[in-house]
Amino acid sequence: MKIAVYYYSKGGSTKKLAEAVAEAAGVKARTVDEPLEGPYELMFIGGAPYIASQVDPHLRDFVKKLTAEDVKEVAVFSASNWKMSIERQIEHDLADPEIKVFDRGYTARGHMGGINKKHPTPEECAEAAEYAKKVIAALSQDQ
Ligand SMILES: Cc1cc2nc3c(=O)[nH]c(=O)nc-3n(C[C@H](O)[C@H](O)[C@H](O)COP(=O)(O)O)c2cc1C
Repeated sequence: MKIAVYYYSKGGSTKKLAEAVAEAAGVKARTVDEPLEGPYELMFIGGAPYIASQVDPHLRDFVKKLTAEDVKEVAVFSASNWKMSIERQIEHDLADPEIKVFDRGYTARGHMGGINKKHPTPEECAEAAEYAKKVIAALSQDQ
């Protein structure tokens, strides 16, 4: 199964989770500024809520441009101060209705300046890796 991990991170929390997810998936974590090298059967997409709980426009633009020729299914992970999932926002931004969204995503606490400094913790990174393995196993069964 061809898998990708793409993320957008301003402060480094999502990046930490992306690296754990990518390691579990056996691929490299890429930022949304890096080119697609698909088609992918599965893409993990990582991000965080910022002003007004909104995902950053960089990530939104990346998601809006995806087509079912680039990717068959996406699975969403996020870092957030209040453990807010961004899954619904990503689902809403996917313009191609043929792209499936894995139900459900993974959310860890992220740090925000001096708040939640230790997050995501090693345990949360391990959970993100477990989540990735679970998604891959579930989709492998479907094939
Ligand atoms: C301007 C701003 C607004 C934020 N708004 C929210 C929010 O509405 N809900 C939330 O859970 N976290 C919010 N956060 C916290 C971020 O989601 C958190 O810092 C996250 O770890 C950022 O991920 P990153 O380090 O990968 O950029 C906000 C952070 C900033 C800087």
